[in-house]
Parts: sequence; structure tokens; C-alpha cells
Amino acid sequence: MSETKRLWHRCFCMNIKPLPKSVVWQDDKLYLLDQTKLPHVEETFCCEQIESVHEAICALRVRGAPAIGIAAAYGLIVGLAENVALSALRERVDYLIGARPTAVNLAWAVERVYRCAVVLAETYDDEIPVGLLCDEAKRIHSEDAASCRNIGVHGLPLIKANSNWLTHCNAGALAVSELGTALAPFYTAAEAGFQFHVYVDETRPLLQGARLTSFELGRAGISNTLICDNAAAHVMSLGQVDGVLVGADRIAANGDVANKIGTLGLAILCKYYGIPFYVAAPTSTIDLETAEGKQILIEERGAQEVTQFGTAQVATLDTKVFNPAFDVTPSNLVKGIITEQGITTAPYEQSLAQLFAPNPTD
Ligand code: MRU
Repeated sequence: MSETKRLWHRCFCMNIKPLPKSVVWQDDKLYLLDQTKLPHVEETFCCEQIESVHEAICALRVRGAPAIGIAAAYGLIVGLAENVALSALRERVDYLIGARPTAVNLAWAVERVYRCAVVLAETYDDEIPVGLLCDEAKRIHSEDAASCRNIGVHGLPLIKANSNWLTHCNAGALAVSELGTALAPFYTAAEAGFQFHVYVDETRPLLQGARLTSFELGRAGISNTLICDNAAAHVMSLGQVDGVLVGADRIAANGDVANKIGTLGLAILCKYYGIPFYVAAPTSTIDLETAEGKQILIEERGAQEVTQFGTAQVATLDTKVFNPAFDVTPSNLVKGIITEQGITTAPYEQSLAQLFAPNPTD
């Protein structure tokens, strides 16, 4: 039985509603779940044009590194006629990549579809069949699902019986094709019948933990407790955290990890309290062209995300704000990176490069 079917079966047995998918391609149309409305409204909308995909990524209607990559791969071809010229496609690639700078999966996915177009152009000149590009986007989508399932399997041995974990932001099913990256080992452990517990950081300012992670863990019947971001140190000091597991938006060649703002603080706390700090990500999040974390461009978002709480204005309108969406955790704080190929450990320059080394049997 596939992982998705097992989760649906589990939900059915526990009488809970299965989680809607973040990205769906059906009957040649792209549907996205509007994550800004979760958890109270589960609304999917159809993107008919590239502009609506771009807007959805900028506004975090679709979010999470792998999910924005998948959405953008389809977004590249959405609304096109049967054929497209390479030059027109290049403009669309650059437009989509400009939507958000930090998660490498976005550029990785659209450049992959573009590379496919470059090869096809040798045969079809300026009339590249859009259907063949769509097939590449579908492959990216299904490979992500397979990666998430394998991350779940490789991370499973870390989830000891009755252990307590802490996660930040949302690196679950909503952030990918299905299952998640950081949450995949939890889903896999729950499926195997293990008892464990997850503390969920609320994740200011956009509350992906409160709105999305506790929602999706709750839907799956996984025991979890929501905490304010600034409660994490206290919970650790009480001895209630055995491990921290987070996702990633970009991993540099030396193992430095860009992830949601607040991740770095958790990693430093883990070092202080002797708690293992793990990252889970597919290899599509590893960027060997970026040597180290300080070269990663960190997205800065609007002041109103900080001055308002939801729609309520909290700070005065003229308050000065610095709102970086991500931070970089140095690799020496990372105990291991769980990928679809297994758990990678330091020295990361070698172990990450090894993940991309050609297989001698191929
Ligand atoms: O701004 P967001 O919500 O897109 O940020 C998402 C994260 O930081 C996730 O932890 C990361 O993308 C991993 S998702 C599997």
C-alpha cells in the first residue's frame, strides 16, 4: 500500500479528515491549496496563468521549499498553448525564480524543466511541445513524493519509543508533495505504532507552526503541543526535548543550513543542552554551487508581518522593522542531515558531495 493510501486508511480508522494536498495537477490544470487560510478554511484554487502562480508563491499561499518548486515547475507551462519557444520559456523561468530567493528548490525545479526544453528544442526548434515539459514537471512532483517517503524511512530509527521532539515552522505534507521532510519520520513512526510526542514552535511572524504543523499533526492523530517560540529554551531546560528536527530551504556545500527564521537559535540551544539537532531535506534542497551559508540570499519580508498579529495592528504604523524570513545554521551545530539517500553526517563537504557522485554501476 502506498504511503498516501496508508495515511488515508489511518485517518479513516481514527475518524479524522485527511489533509488536502498542497499542489495538485489534474486534467491539465494546476490547483493550489491556499495555506494562508489554514487551518480554518480549506480552500483550493486553480491557477490559470503564470502570474497567479507567482503571486501564490510570493504571498505564501503555496510555501515550503519543495512545494514551491513543484508549483513553479507546473507554473512554467500553465496557460501556454500547445507549443512554446525557448526564448519565451526563459523569460518565464526568470520571472518565477524572482518570486522568492532563499529556497533553492524553486530555481532547481524550473531550471530542470528549462533544461528539458533546451534538449527538446534540438528536435522541435521553436515549437517545443508543452505536454513534454509537463511530463518533466510531473516527474519532479512524483520524485519528491518518493524522496519524502524515503526520508521518513531513514529518519525512523531516530524516533525512539516515548521520545519528545521539537520542530519549527512547517516541514510537513503541506510543504511538499506528501508526507513532508522533517515531519516524514514522525508520520512513519506513527504508522509503525510508536508512541512519541512533538513540541511545535508557533514560528513567528507567519505562524506556520501554529497554523500548519499542529494542524497537520493533529489531523494525523500525532500527539503534539504548541509552544511560543520563546518557550523553547524553557522546555529544553526541563529535559523535555530529546531531539530537534527541522526542514531546510537551502543547504550549502559545507552543510550550512538556511531554514525558517528562529532555526539558528534552536540549534544553539541544542548545543547548550546537549540535544541532537537534525535537518531533513531532499537532495533537491542541497546547493553544491553555494560553498557556504553566508552566500545564501536571505529573503526579507514586509514590516506588516511583524507589526500586525493576524489582521490586528499591534505596533505603531511607523515602527521600524527588520523581518528576515530565514536564518543560517552553521554545519557544526548539525548532528545529521536526513535525505532520501540516508543520514549524512560531518564532514559535510565530503558527505554532501558524495550524494551527487555518479553511481559506478550506472
Ligand atoms: O516561508 P516558508 O513557510 O516557505 O518557510 C518554510 C520553511 O522554512 C521550511 O522549514 C522549509 O521550506 C522546509 S519545507 C519541507
